[in-house]
Amino acid sequence: MTRVALAFSGGLDTTVCVPLLEEEYGYDDVIGVTVDVGQPAEEFDEAEETAEALGLEHYVVDAREEFAQLCLESVRANATYQGYPLGTALARPVIAEAILEVAEEHDCDALAHGCTGKGNDQLRFEAVWRDTDLDVYAPVRELGLTREWEQEYAAEKDLPVEGGSGGDWSIDTNIWSRSIEGDDLEDPSYVPPTDIYEWTDEPTGETEEIEIAFENGYPVAVDVLGSEAPASQSEADASDDGKEMDPVSLVEHLNEVAGAHGVGRTDTMEDRMLGLKVRENYEHPAATTLLNAHEALEGLVLTQEERQFKQQIDNQWSQKAYEGLIDAPLVDALEGFIDETQKRVTGTVTIRFEGGQARPVARDSEYAAYSAAHASFDTETVGKIKQEDATGVAKYHGFQRRLANKAIEKIDGDETVELATDGGNDADEE
Ligand code: ARG
Repeated sequence: MTRVALAFSGGLDTTVCVPLLEEEYGYDDVIGVTVDVGQPAEEFDEAEETAEALGLEHYVVDAREEFAQLCLESVRANATYQGYPLGTALARPVIAEAILEVAEEHDCDALAHGCTGKGNDQLRFEAVWRDTDLDVYAPVRELGLTREWEQEYAAEKDLPVEGGSGGDWSIDTNIWSRSIEGDDLEDPSYVPPTDIYEWTDEPTGETEEIEIAFENGYPVAVDVLGSEAPASQSEADASDDGKEMDPVSLVEHLNEVAGAHGVGRTDTMEDRMLGLKVRENYEHPAATTLLNAHEALEGLVLTQEERQFKQQIDNQWSQKAYEGLIDAPLVDALEGFIDETQKRVTGTVTIRFEGGQARPVARDSEYAAYSAAHASFDTETVGKIKQEDATGVAKYHGFQRRLANKAIEKIDGDETVELATDGGNDADEE
């Protein structure tokens, strides 16, 4: 008896995969696995109903906590790829691992997904699955299926496929981002209608402030300060303590609050792993808010050279996350650096939602690498440091470039002379 575990969503692609795995690949038994990384309830209903209609043995695995934790790790790495906070990318290894576990529990000899041969997700799933001895299949890619063919095949076989919850768009949702692509959006010059967005409202003129507390770079609490700026920080502190929240609730809460202000929309031309460029639209209110707040706190506590070097670390982390290779040894090494820097990323940041932006307007930490007394225009001497001490630095600043520019002048001068002597350039000669 042969059995294959299929990553199953109940959409057209994965639905046609069920009979195809039996007919074309000769499997006796197919089981479907849906992994919960925070998709909307309708998607589970759709998967449940379709599985039932197909007579498919179906399992749902809740991976929300693990996924939310990974999202918060990505905040510590200020992780984005071409402006996109990596929701789909971060979710895929988590989903792939969860499906693998179910497959092993149920003695499957193979794994399958419904990804096409054009996107990133096939690579992310298979990076995890090909670490095992199980066979891996991608029917849509391997049989060269098109959506049109799938629709005809589904009709012919009387498969339970509906229009899909996203209408014309191809949607991928989890707690970190909602991605919208396909159909008219494939034309980069097409302006998306606002109804493609579900998490973000059109920005209104209203503002609101919240305070986010971080511990070691992890956001741990959110405190809504209200729609008007509090008269003083101490008043705000006294009025309401930041509510400690688990990662899932914290992200869901911020998606609501920031989404209502239209925060976190991205419309981008994304360079995929295969080299294709694709037009992508994303919504990610919580991610944008947390990333902005985290970076603001790093700005207060990290030294200039740490911040500069960390950009390279963060870029590498984001690249590996985009590739679905978050378990690469390089990532562990990068996280060594990240852990070290995040020891001081503890404190609070006030974010103001305004005109679709989540703008940091205040930050506070007991580990600030900042001295108000030294930086202030109002103090002349602090400890042993006096304003006039900067004079020496000012004399040396740019010293090498001063000499180098003189050398360049000399060369340019010589060239002019040469040109003048052998070129008969008489314009400015006396
Ligand atoms: N391009 C994005 C990524 O590779 C997201 C793709 C999401 N898929 C979708 N059907 N909308 O991470």
